Amino acid sequence: MISDKLSHITKTMKSSMIRELVASTRGIEGLISFAGGFPSPKTFPAETLSKLYAQVLAEEGSTVLQYGASEGDPLLKEELQKWEGLQIDPARILITAGSTNAIYYMTRALVDPGDVIICEAPSFLGSLVAFEASGADLIGIPLDMEGIDLVQLQQKVDELQSAGKRVKFIYTIPDFHNPAGLTMSYQRRKDLIEYAIAMDIPILEDNPYSRLRYSGEALPTLFKIANEEYLNDEVVTEIVSFSKILGPGMRLAFAKGSKTLIERMCSWQQKINIAPDNISQRVAARFLAGGFMDPHIQMCCDFYRPYLNKMLDAMAKYLPSYIQYTKPEGGIFTWLKLPEDMNADELFERAKAHKISFIPGSKFYPTGQERYNNLRLNFSFSTLEQIEEGMQSLGKLMDEFYT
Ligand SMILES: Cc1ncc(COP(=O)(O)O)c(C=O)c1O
Repeated sequence: MISDKLSHITKTMKSSMIRELVASTRGIEGLISFAGGFPSPKTFPAETLSKLYAQVLAEEGSTVLQYGASEGDPLLKEELQKWEGLQIDPARILITAGSTNAIYYMTRALVDPGDVIICEAPSFLGSLVAFEASGADLIGIPLDMEGIDLVQLQQKVDELQSAGKRVKFIYTIPDFHNPAGLTMSYQRRKDLIEYAIAMDIPILEDNPYSRLRYSGEALPTLFKIANEEYLNDEVVTEIVSFSKILGPGMRLAFAKGSKTLIERMCSWQQKINIAPDNISQRVAARFLAGGFMDPHIQMCCDFYRPYLNKMLDAMAKYLPSYIQYTKPEGGIFTWLKLPEDMNADELFERAKAHKISFIPGSKFYPTGQERYNNLRLNFSFSTLEQIEEGMQSLGKLMDEFYT
């Protein structure tokens, strides 16, 4: 039987429990969902993209339908550099089919079973399951309001190294964190980089959300700070996804890092994917070259801003005073911290019966390190009216549930 022949790692691999949770609420009539993590289809630039896809196929069909370069389209790399205002060796850039692939390649390039990956706790489940599937020991470090807690990080790394463990990298989502909604402060970014350089521990900076900023000042990425302020081109690998800007269906992202690591990641891409989709890459290159990107991102921000503002107002108005929550300036999530003895998994079942859904926070921790007194709310899917109504019901439910 084929099931007897599955590899150990396949048998023990976790599925995305979030999909199962969301599926468990499917079909509930009148459900108000704060659970999903999808961008709004209303932000997809479908009209412009459809013209560009047609143009690319008509004008460059014979080349883009051929196998492309494993490291990615040189033209797209050029456009990405102009867009980001960066001047780095193109060999330090790898284009991938979404950031999920890039994260996987970096893990394959660096991690042997039993090595340690440090992540934030909570963190993005998609990455956590990929890390765990590599056989890594995954260690979560709590977040405070400025980002990953550096004191706890240092203590943990010392402890791990004293026990003979090899810490292979630190995984962080500095901007509009999924699920925590937090943005790492400038000082914390610098402190983390200084620590990582001193300890010779690479950082994986996962950046799908920084362009979705609806208010406040943008902060430089860890990649930029490391390269420009510390003149270090090795410590940070940044992965930028187009999923939340152009649409996840395009499966497009790019990684920037040290030439050596990018080459090794590219070698994994060759084996797993040969090359990213040539057509999408050339379309993205034309989207950038045509000057569509910045106005489009502005439109996305204008679209999402009222939803964030509505969520912030509704949380202030309806959530009980013992609930703490993050107040993001962008992204698509906010994170609620409940009292220690209030269990969000139980609250989820109660809320489901009242046609409200969210993701209980326990889903965002490495296996065995779960915390149960928090939950994630998405504000980019429901209507403004549903946010008002849903948060009013959730606030009431919390009070009934807790008192
Ligand atoms: C933090 C984070 N990283 C990575 C991804 C996956 O992005 P992609 O569609 O580029 O694979 C997501 C998607 O939700 C995310 O929130």
